[in-house]
Amino acid sequence: MSDGALALPDAAATEALGRALAPLLREGDVVALFGDLGVGKTSLARGALAALGLAEEAPSPTFAIVQPYAPPEVALPVAHVDLYRLDAPEEAAELGLDDLLEDGALLIEWPERMGGGLWPHALRLTLAPDGAGGRRLTWHAPAAWEGRWPPPPLPHPQPALAPRPR
Ligand SMILES: Nc1ncnc2c1ncn2[C@@H]1O[C@H](COP(=O)(O)OP(=O)(O)O)[C@@H](O)[C@H]1O
Ligand SMILES: [Mg+2]
Repeated sequence: MSDGALALPDAAATEALGRALAPLLREGDVVALFGDLGVGKTSLARGALAALGLAEEAPSPTFAIVQPYAPPEVALPVAHVDLYRLDAPEEAAELGLDDLLEDGALLIEWPERMGGGLWPHALRLTLAPDGAGGRRLTWHAPAAWEGRWPPPPLPHPQPALAPRPR
């Protein structure tokens, strides 16, 4: 288990962190993206989805709530989830997230809407304004992310990952 922080001075840094997250993702992983409206949660998820191979810019799943992606569009099944519009934590149970986790990963915005239902093995990332127009990211990485998070610094630009055989 580890906790830490890093600076994301601009939107490109947020996207680059998302790209760095992509190759770490495995089936069954949950990445919880905490932080207020407009802080960069979707930007980070978009970076990850782009690095997983998604050709078009991922739409914000605010209205769909769950936006699943599957190979060959992306290298690994992954669902981009935005729980902002959830009225009660019990509603999360109806979204089928457990099923999606069986063969894929979840990137979840507004995970606090799940109440205590957020999986304990989730990588918890929190974005906040840094007071200078950028963002500060703090993380809590449980044992499941030992040796994976934080990612090593990336060379730029990053090529998209090839689809993995299933
Ligand atoms: N590190 C950063 N510094 C400055 N602006 C950022 C940063 N990361 C993202 N942004 C910008 O913040 C705005 C909101 O981002 P978005 O990802 O939609 O936020 P959220 O999903 O948390 O509501 C976008 O204009 C995005 O480019
Ligand atoms: Mg968003």
